[in-house]
Amino acid sequence: MVELRGRPPILITHLSLTDFRNYSSLELSLPRGGVVLVGDNAQGKSNLMEAAYLLSIMRSHRAGVERELIRLGEEGERPWARVVGSAQGEAGGVEIEVLLRRTAGEAVSKRIRVNGVPRRAAEVVGVLAGVMFSAEDIGLVSGAPALRRRYLDVTSCQLSAHYLGSLQRYQRVLTQRNGLLKMAALGRAATDELEFWDHKMVTEGGYIRQHRLALVQALNGLAQGIHDGLTHGEEALEMDYRPNPSDPSPESFARALTEGRGRDMALGMTLSGPHRDDLRFMVNSMDAGIYGSRGQQRTVALSLRLAEAGFLRKERGQPPVLLLDDVLSELDGLRSEQLLASLAPYDQWLLTTADRSQVASPYLEESTVLHINGGTVGQPLDG
Ligand SMILES: Nc1ncnc2c1ncn2[C@@H]1O[C@H](COP(=O)(O)OP(=O)(O)O)[C@@H](O)[C@H]1O
Ligand SMILES: [Mg+2]
Repeated sequence: MVELRGRPPILITHLSLTDFRNYSSLELSLPRGGVVLVGDNAQGKSNLMEAAYLLSIMRSHRAGVERELIRLGEEGERPWARVVGSAQGEAGGVEIEVLLRRTAGEAVSKRIRVNGVPRRAAEVVGVLAGVMFSAEDIGLVSGAPALRRRYLDVTSCQLSAHYLGSLQRYQRVLTQRNGLLKMAALGRAATDELEFWDHKMVTEGGYIRQHRLALVQALNGLAQGIHDGLTHGEEALEMDYRPNPSDPSPESFARALTEGRGRDMALGMTLSGPHRDDLRFMVNSMDAGIYGSRGQQRTVALSLRLAEAGFLRKERGQPPVLLLDDVLSELDGLRSEQLLASLAPYDQWLLTTADRSQVASPYLEESTVLHINGGTVGQPLDG
């Protein structure tokens, strides 16, 4: 069996999209270094970034249902969408293919191949590491806890195939337990059956939590320095993982499940465990998600993404591909220059913008500029 993660690819050299979002057919070769993709609204900038990120995380980072990814043309919805990425690393090339096929109802079936060999998503997530920066990242700071849990999970999955497996098992156990709670409340199941599921929850949940805590600690260490730089020492950032119950030990989790059983039964759901944990961003000891200004929240989100990129680079010994979707318009001139300057250690970054003048001049000159227009990508006419 090929070791997919041993010497990972670091660049996307070619992207091929078929009936993906508004792209009927796209063949796009990508160089090393900076690539600036310029296009008006609704031309396919975010769609292209979504496709590139799909090759890292094996799912869409923004679609509610993945069926949305299949192109709706004038002739109606196409039967499938396909994204193929060729990636290059020190150890050679790798081709990752994701095929989304329409099935009955809302669902899509996903078929993944690496160099032509069928693979499970869990095997392929993070083979090509990517970090996505988007305008919606502010929601990581100000939005619901589920967004932050998902963030930690996606980042962990890129580093550990085992984490994704554990997460999937935990989700199944949780569903089983919740089902049983509802049955028990109706007197159709014995409560001692719950013990079996509680035990499983503690095992898988403990692993997930341990992993997330370690990740937050590592990200925090990196984000603090980055945030200090972005705010010229005016704002001190501290990331704070909040387990539920607050003591993260397995014993405390087990106790919370036992003691909360009556309440959980009444509600038909489980109120403790990593699926109820949160991550808070403290700025100068105040919770930025609650008290922070939009500008402060945006800067926290930027620090977090840069920390994530730095962490992936360190852990993998190879830089991830950075995807920056329309983030410059949200930043003032100074911050956007700082962001562009911090891209230097990365072998490849793709950045979209509606206005190329937002990319400060030395960075624009050193980049490859491409235009996106109605699902086509080409060299700009005006050079
Ligand atoms: N499944 C789909 N089929 C066809 N067009 C789509 C599909 N999903 C989104 N689009 C179209 O893509 C466009 C938005 O693309 P997007 O990449 O988000 O734009 P932007 O360049 O502003 O980032 C919209 O015109 C939308 O209608
Ligand atoms: Mg967009």
